Amino acid sequence: MKILVVGGAGYIGSHMLRELLEKGYDPVVFDNLSTGHTWGVPSDRLVRGDLSDAADLERLFGHHRFAAVMHFASFIQVGESMTAPLKYYDNNVSNTINLLRAMERAQVRRFVFSSTAAVYGTPQTVPIVETFPLHPENPYGRSKLMVEEILADCEAAWGLRSARLRYFNAAGAHPSGEIGEAHDPESHLIPIILQVALGRRDAITINGDDYPTPDGTCIRDYIHVCDLASAHTLALNALLEDRGSMVYNLGNGKGYSIREVIDVCRQVTGHPIPVRIGPRREGDPARLVASPDKIVRELGWEPRHGDLEAIVKSAWKWHETSGG
Ligand SMILES: NC(=O)c1ccc[n+]([C@@H]2O[C@H](COP(=O)([O-])OP(=O)(O)OC[C@H]3O[C@@H](n4cnc5c(N)ncnc54)[C@H](O)[C@@H]3O)[C@@H](O)[C@H]2O)c1
Repeated sequence: MKILVVGGAGYIGSHMLRELLEKGYDPVVFDNLSTGHTWGVPSDRLVRGDLSDAADLERLFGHHRFAAVMHFASFIQVGESMTAPLKYYDNNVSNTINLLRAMERAQVRRFVFSSTAAVYGTPQTVPIVETFPLHPENPYGRSKLMVEEILADCEAAWGLRSARLRYFNAAGAHPSGEIGEAHDPESHLIPIILQVALGRRDAITINGDDYPTPDGTCIRDYIHVCDLASAHTLALNALLEDRGSMVYNLGNGKGYSIREVIDVCRQVTGHPIPVRIGPRREGDPARLVASPDKIVRELGWEPRHGDLEAIVKSAWKWHETSGG
């Protein structure tokens, strides 16, 4: 069964590609390599192209008959989205509309979408359930919520069925050590800490240690990228079985403070990992922890690498071999 993986040369998409190949699907990656890597994708699976280019999309959907589309391609940096909002609305919203238009034309009506916990903004309480109010606080989060709303409109108009998957903090790497997280610039906590252990940075800066949490640092929910991929496969299968559209949080339901993450990285790497304390970042909620109960209950999702030490160990294996 042919599945289009848009953004499949990126961090999460390349792990999804491995999962699809392991499960016997026939995936095709479409990626402009703006932040992705050729090493993430076997060359015979990669179609280079850009979502902003209608001709690229026409060729792609002309050559292949896809059963479903998984859409990972977007810009992902919250801070940059505040200084360059149009860049984010262009790539994350307009280009997604281009993709949906091509799907409508080709009558492909199954769509798995990478959404984000940022659609919730600052929650009143944790754990966050899917019915919480949606109040994104930056253009990145708003761009994802806009797409969620567009998907609902397409469902009403032409029968699109979608899985809107709201990821918390994706982390870790494939157990093979062959692929892992490599954003440039890196904005995610665990790879930045591991770059300190590798000597590529002097210290890790904690953005604020006066939050109302036990150790004063922000609490986040980390999900292993392979568990994220297995959840996508369950959602994909549910769409292919005509079980209707769905929205799920993807996190472990466990929160770890930044200091706790640094401590685990110290244990795993054996490096002292010096810390600096910086000011708070605007719009950083004290706690973001998912309730993953809905996907566990409805699709039987079972995270296999939920433990933070396992997540960090897999990331470290990748960073050590790739040079970080
Ligand atoms: N990494 C996380 O913790 C996290 C958390 C929440 C949501 N997400 C979402 O998951 C998705 C994947 O994130 P990631 O960390 O793998 O990012 P990434 O930057 O590693 O991957 C994105 C991929 O999309 C490609 N791409 C971007 N714009 C494109 C375009 N116009 N045409 C074709 N290809 C294009 C890039 O080249 C890259 O390969 C994103 O949509 C992101 O918003 C990620």
